[in-house]
Amino acid sequence: MSKIAIRGTYLTYTGDPFKSAVDDVMKVESDGIILIEDGKIKDMGPAAQMQAKLPVEIEVIEYKDSVIMAGFIDSHVHYPQTQIIGAYGEQLIEWLNNYTFVAEQQFRDKAHATKVAEVFLREQLRAGTTSVATFCTVYPESVDAFFEVSERYNMRNIAGKVMMDRNAPPALTDTAKQGYDDSKALIEKWHGRGRQMYSVTPRFAPTSTPEQLEAAGALWRESEGTFMQTHVSENVNEVAWVKELYPEHEGYLDVYDKFGLCGERALFGHGIHLTEKELARLSETGGTITHCPTSNFFLGSGYLNVHNAKKLERPVRVGLATDLGAGTSFSILQTLNETYKAAQLNGNALSAGHAFYLATRGTAESMCIDDKVGHLAPGMEADIVVLDLKPTQIMDFRMSFAKDFEEQLFILMTLGDDRNTRATYVAGKLVYDRGELPVTARFAA
Ligand code: GUN
Ligand code: ZN
Repeated sequence: MSKIAIRGTYLTYTGDPFKSAVDDVMKVESDGIILIEDGKIKDMGPAAQMQAKLPVEIEVIEYKDSVIMAGFIDSHVHYPQTQIIGAYGEQLIEWLNNYTFVAEQQFRDKAHATKVAEVFLREQLRAGTTSVATFCTVYPESVDAFFEVSERYNMRNIAGKVMMDRNAPPALTDTAKQGYDDSKALIEKWHGRGRQMYSVTPRFAPTSTPEQLEAAGALWRESEGTFMQTHVSENVNEVAWVKELYPEHEGYLDVYDKFGLCGERALFGHGIHLTEKELARLSETGGTITHCPTSNFFLGSGYLNVHNAKKLERPVRVGLATDLGAGTSFSILQTLNETYKAAQLNGNALSAGHAFYLATRGTAESMCIDDKVGHLAPGMEADIVVLDLKPTQIMDFRMSFAKDFEEQLFILMTLGDDRNTRATYVAGKLVYDRGELPVTARFAA
């Protein structure tokens, strides 16, 4: 039986601060110990109490000047776009045609897909992200490649083969039947194998015929426990295009709704331009908006109003996501920085307490995986990130002026990025360790 214990300041949530007072659900232990056994949290609490309970032979790893929390979750991302992050020019549709659809054609080659999946997952772990929901490409090999690497790291990841049968280069299209058959075979192979989970993945309404969306809806319904991921209402030109392609539907979300693609575990990328009626329908069906602010600013798509989406009268689930390669950072800390700015533009300030909820338990709840990951408690899978509060000279300096822990957290989400990741644990195993050299030791004198 493998056992380890980690010690330091930890932060976790017992509920949703958008629904209850933040102080009631945000739990901070300034000197805590988390005992991990066989990949799960066995026990946790103040160090003074835990020390008496620890097995005698156990190794306790102590992290100073850090905060320990549940590993971050990236609820919408495209691993094949790792090679086109930061591609210059234009908005969604032009960007897809000029860069994305060119890069994705390389993923017919499984060796290429494996190489990119390896870089992608290592970057995620280096950024403290322990679960992702990723689009692959139309090629089933690109899904196998991803899951094979994911399985090696034993990550709880979600992935799926992109379904596209129109408005894309011929080399990137399948058919309604081929897309269904290939996806079904991948579900049988991967869904529920260890920590791997499958998502039925029609890219978005413009690249699927009604027949393909119908097939995707049927497949999702008959494949218990799988996810569904797509895009909705990201860009105003895209919304207008969907109106032309699906004139008989009430709106963009209605296209998915009529083909049985709304419900719990349906993850809709962006949702910036959804109408009030569409938000109400999402709330009713339990679907999720995955909020991707670095991508939305980069492509000039707009900015989601998270507080409006989550309002108590008709709450819509909201998860956080990078949406690489339109997103510009692997770091969920940087994603929080941009989430804060999007909220500011909507006239809402997002407190650090709310922000770190969104980055951990909130995203897990939005994806219905919060019984497994997203918060720290006995029985939970031990996916954990340790964030160094002072990895750079400026953060070290700035932190010395912070008046309390809340302010430290706000500095962390504003100035922080992958440099803050001190260590990442997946199912209780240390998978990334930056080392403990303090910033001050890196200068000549
Ligand atoms: N809409 C359809 N496909 C994509 C994609 O790959 N990235 C983004 N940001 N939006 C999309
Ligand atoms: Zn996307």
